[in-house]
Amino acid sequence: MANTILIGSQWGDEGKGKIIDVITTEHKWVVRYQGGNNAGHTVEIGEERHVLHLLPSGILREGCSCVIGNGVVIDPAALKQEIDEVESRGYATAGRLFVSDRAHVIMPYHRLIDEYREGRATAKEKIGTTKRGIGPSYADKAARVGLRMGDMLLPDFAERVRRKVEENNVILEALGAPLPVADEVVAEYTALAKSLTPYIQDTVTLLNQADRRGESILFEGAQGAMLDIDFGTYPYVTSSNATAGGACTGSGIPPHRIERVIGVIKGYTTRVGEGPFPTELNDDTGEALRRAGNEFGATTGRPRRCGWFDAVVARYSAMINGIDFWALTKMDVLDQQPVIRVCVAYEYEGQRYEQVPGLISVLEGCRPVYEELPGWNCRTSDITRFDDLPDRARAYIARLEELTGVSVGIVSVGPQRDRTFVVESVYQPSV
Ligand code: GDP
Ligand code: IMO
Ligand code: MG
Repeated sequence: MANTILIGSQWGDEGKGKIIDVITTEHKWVVRYQGGNNAGHTVEIGEERHVLHLLPSGILREGCSCVIGNGVVIDPAALKQEIDEVESRGYATAGRLFVSDRAHVIMPYHRLIDEYREGRATAKEKIGTTKRGIGPSYADKAARVGLRMGDMLLPDFAERVRRKVEENNVILEALGAPLPVADEVVAEYTALAKSLTPYIQDTVTLLNQADRRGESILFEGAQGAMLDIDFGTYPYVTSSNATAGGACTGSGIPPHRIERVIGVIKGYTTRVGEGPFPTELNDDTGEALRRAGNEFGATTGRPRRCGWFDAVVARYSAMINGIDFWALTKMDVLDQQPVIRVCVAYEYEGQRYEQVPGLISVLEGCRPVYEELPGWNCRTSDITRFDDLPDRARAYIARLEELTGVSVGIVSVGPQRDRTFVVESVYQPSV
């Protein structure tokens, strides 16, 4: 049993929820450490399909304890709704879901600022956010003016909410947004505080105690490395550290307690929202990938932008996250492609780039350098062993390994739990 960080290695939606669900059998705890309900993690169990936004995917495994860590920003209404939803499907949350008292609260004015700022932005300035209030809530955290979940336990919580609403109405007025009525927000948030109180805890101590007892912890990343606020395609990013480093600051578990990092990666690339995407396909092939992969946002329903596998992104992601092995998903989506292209480097003004450039203006001008591999043209979704994959699919995987310098340990060929197999020479599950 090993403390494991699992992160998205591209622009999100790599299939983290599915892989988390498969490997939770090895872990006692699953922890969300950044992001908020901008995430949408899909888990399919038999005929049931769950899309989790805030709750760690471990909530769907009996015996698994779940933490929403201090690094997450929480919309209490969204959390309450999600708890009610999983409970109605027969998954208990009492005594196995713990919410950090240090996590910041998303308020109605955060959502409105997010929406109206995007509304006023020029085409170039638009980020294409999920409008969930994520950025403004993290901004308040950094400015030290935010409310935290622990504040809900205090006798003067209502008064604090009232003051924040009045303070933020000044900003909302300047943005031309509707102004929330303080009394209504106070009533809504005090009611939510009452229902969420049993879940709010000092999760930093709780998790470190569990770690000392030898119980293993799985850190569930949201978004992806290229959406990380520091390492991603800034400003077209989310407002938190989606990379592996965020797991420590977002949970309170120290770095030396982490034993491995798994990077989830798709056999091609997708992106939702604005920003550079060197391998994007605005043609029939892109449309075919979108259709075959059902590439529509799990949170907003927006069609995802689709493109070929970008080994520059994967190599960069492996470097900044310290990936031990890849969990490669959606291989089945490539089944019908006669020829598969892989971006091995970028070219910009006559110069070759093997790593993602830091300057967004350079990245925007980068052209992908492609290599072509033959497709396998057969169905892989019923395959259950790595050795049974067609030769050309195995050659494709070997090439991705070579280009990224990281081995593939898990392969996924369908959305369901059982459409997953391991490469035993790279990774042996302990359960
Ligand atoms: P996450 O945000 O990284 O958890 O990913 P999403 O849930 O947003 O998007 C991944 C989508 O692909 C979901 O609809 C999954 O059910 C689906 N999925 C995951 N793995 C596979 C796979 O190997 N093949 C196919 N066809 N679909 C997959
Ligand atoms: P999961 O965890 C894909 C994108 C948004 C937008 C940018 C900023 O399911 O992989 P935000 O609302 O966070 O301020 O939006 O980030 N984005 C995601 N894209 N998957 C996600 O989560 C995302 N969460 C945010 O589309 O471009
Ligand atoms: Mg998603």
